[in-house]
Amino acid sequence: TTGPTREYLDPVRYISNDSSGKQGYEIAVALNKLGVKTTLITGPTNLIINADIKIKKVVSAKEMFNEVKKTLPVDIAICAAAVADFKPIKKNKNKIKKNQNSFTSINFEENSDIVEFLGKNNKNRPSIVVGFSAETENLHKNAIIKLREKNCDIIVSNDVSKKDSGINSDYNRVSIIDGNGNFKVFKRSKKSFIANKIAKVVLDKLLIDDRNFN
Ligand code: C5P
Repeated sequence: TTGPTREYLDPVRYISNDSSGKQGYEIAVALNKLGVKTTLITGPTNLIINADIKIKKVVSAKEMFNEVKKTLPVDIAICAAAVADFKPIKKNKNKIKKNQNSFTSINFEENSDIVEFLGKNNKNRPSIVVGFSAETENLHKNAIIKLREKNCDIIVSNDVSKKDSGINSDYNRVSIIDGNGNFKVFKRSKKSFIANKIAKVVLDKLLIDDRNFN
């Protein structure tokens, strides 16, 4: 998965974030180049898709979750999307008017956690589930907590505290962390470079974990 999701309040207004979808797209490109049949489930982005990968476009977190479920079973799931954690309980049928007195607050409900569903799915669990963790502080500690909570095999911890990398940039600063606490740290690098590293770590893990693979 990649990109942001949009949670609509009315036909024209929504809650979202600045995710460009670049890191997830580059990972799909890297895996595809390595011969992996890849599907990219993407929220709304301005990405120009050149690669020969299957694209499923979605808008809301609910749609993304449904597309993920439809795509199962898969060997590897990499969830790089910046999914909205909450959505407005009610979407107004008509555009909310400025003088609509009743509109003084928004009530939210939680979206389902897609990567957690994949990590804890006993029936159709992908062999490798990779989550992302965008943090501004205590990067490794928070990433490992997330890895355990969501039962991921690998977590990519993203440093989003700096303006010259991370969200909506061509560059990223990440650490790739596994369930044993092993980690690889990458200094500021192009997202395409980091994508190749992530693809390699994931495929190596798949080959080691799957004794029947030859
Ligand atoms: O808890 P947090 O949102 O920071 O976790 C980030 C990770 O969880 C990312 O891999 C993101 O794609 C995934 N996520 C998800 N579904 C949600 C929220 C987050 O798959 N509803």
